[in-house]
Amino acid sequence: MSREKVLSLLREQGDRYVSGEAMSRALGISRAAVWKAIEALRQEGYTIQSAPNRGYRLESGPDRVREGELSGPLAGCRVGSHLLCLETVDSTNTEAKRQAMAGAPDGLVILSEEQTGGRGRRGRAFQSPKGKGLYLTALLRPKLAPEPVTDFTAWVAVAVCDGIEAACGVRPQIKWTNDLVLGGKKLCGILTELGLEGESHTLDYLITGIGINVNHAPEDFKEEVRPIATSLAQALGRPVRRTQLAAEIIRALDQMYARFPQGKAEYLKKYRAGCLTTGKPVQVITPSSREEAFAVEIDDDFRLVVEYPDGRRTALSAGEVSVRGMYGYV
Ligand code: BTN
Repeated sequence: MSREKVLSLLREQGDRYVSGEAMSRALGISRAAVWKAIEALRQEGYTIQSAPNRGYRLESGPDRVREGELSGPLAGCRVGSHLLCLETVDSTNTEAKRQAMAGAPDGLVILSEEQTGGRGRRGRAFQSPKGKGLYLTALLRPKLAPEPVTDFTAWVAVAVCDGIEAACGVRPQIKWTNDLVLGGKKLCGILTELGLEGESHTLDYLITGIGINVNHAPEDFKEEVRPIATSLAQALGRPVRRTQLAAEIIRALDQMYARFPQGKAEYLKKYRAGCLTTGKPVQVITPSSREEAFAVEIDDDFRLVVEYPDGRRTALSAGEVSVRGMYGYV
């Protein structure tokens, strides 16, 4: 759409003016179409200066996650090479599945301003209020068997920490396996789902959905999660521009995807350094039991090694159990 292309070009120029004619040439559209796009952007709240003989300059704009804001910063990335930016959707993961079934390419990223049916692990709901958080899903089609992909979600946790650190200067910790935590409270959840070819048992697609609480005030969380949830704005004491955060997260996912699975040593090292679960007593929870144990370490397959009071040691896989701190969420 011309509006997204014009916005992207204006963003690329930074503080510089660009003439209507140069835009029309660069984008292959008429000058009238450039003018129409500029007017439409102004209607949406963008402040675009115009000066005779110099052209247009973008001064400021709303923090809306859209293609025109992201395509420039993501040039050259495989993850984010295709973008679908929505106003509303049931769940970006569910939309990614629909897109995958319809043949969408490797690297498609779907973002939405809100989700009406955001999903978390274990069938839980993920609250996704409009314009507050970052709700995005990457659709990937790695040419791999399903087995090496089992620890992918732990790699994603590291990549999201990298992206948040690049955008905001703070690095969340990781609660095994893939909740991101700031100040002892949940900041981000990740839900990775696989699509398998029934007959051949090969991997058809992998979708990884990331939900980050960005500009939520405490009252934006439902009462039951308020005591254990935080947002970047709450932790930093200032609002965060979601478009910039989205670009850094997708760039970090792209770097991670390029290194998967050969770069395991690097991601394991970062995961271990950031994991707040190890070295603490925990509760190991299955659908039918709850046992106390000590979280010893993360093994080479991102499993959590726990030791029970009777001396038994087990390596836990994410799908089987969840782990809680002894005295609360972490
Ligand atoms: C969890 O904490 O249990 C995982 C939450 C994952 C939420 C994200 S938001 C984007 C994507 N779409 C969804 O419906 N879920 C994931």
